Amino acid sequence: MKAVENAMTADFLRSAYGGESMAHMRYLIWGELADKEGFPNIGRLFRAIAYAEQAHADNHFKVLGQQKGDFSVTSGGNFGVGDTVANLQGGIDGELHEIEQMYPVYLETARFQKEKGAERAFHYALEAEKIHAKLFKEAQDYAKEGKDMPLDTVYVCPVCGYTEVGGPVDVCPVCGAKHTVFKAFEK
Ligand SMILES: [Fe+2]
Ligand SMILES: [Fe+2]
Repeated sequence: MKAVENAMTADFLRSAYGGESMAHMRYLIWGELADKEGFPNIGRLFRAIAYAEQAHADNHFKVLGQQKGDFSVTSGGNFGVGDTVANLQGGIDGELHEIEQMYPVYLETARFQKEKGAERAFHYALEAEKIHAKLFKEAQDYAKEGKDMPLDTVYVCPVCGYTEVGGPVDVCPVCGAKHTVFKAFEK
């Protein structure tokens, strides 16, 4: 990916990097809490999605290229240690914010500024977050009944964060990576 040249897109990449980094850590924390609450599959779902957010942070960081100096980075992110139903709501809210507001705006800005690398990184994240919101909602429906979700192996594309339950697909439908590179989160 070519390094970013325009300041506005660079700001958005740094903010998105911060947001994805926090989401990665937050999902690991919530995953551990889900395990303790007796929902190992929901815990595993959190860990798989945490890995996808890491892939997004990785892309944003790399597109920024080499930059001198320190930056203060402002990123949205929710906080809270609740029960698994509440933590999944945090996940749903965060993903929906990314899907409905953050990434569409960032993506349009990258396009406007002809920042191809950033455009790709934002597109990858946006597509994965749509799947994440859906999976968290499914998990929450079970957790509300006091049940763990039934969950096959979760496969995550390390290139774009595309997340597939019960795959793997031959080729990543978002970025075209071969399934052999997917990371599997097995029972
Ligand atoms: Fe996500
Ligand atoms: Fe992919």
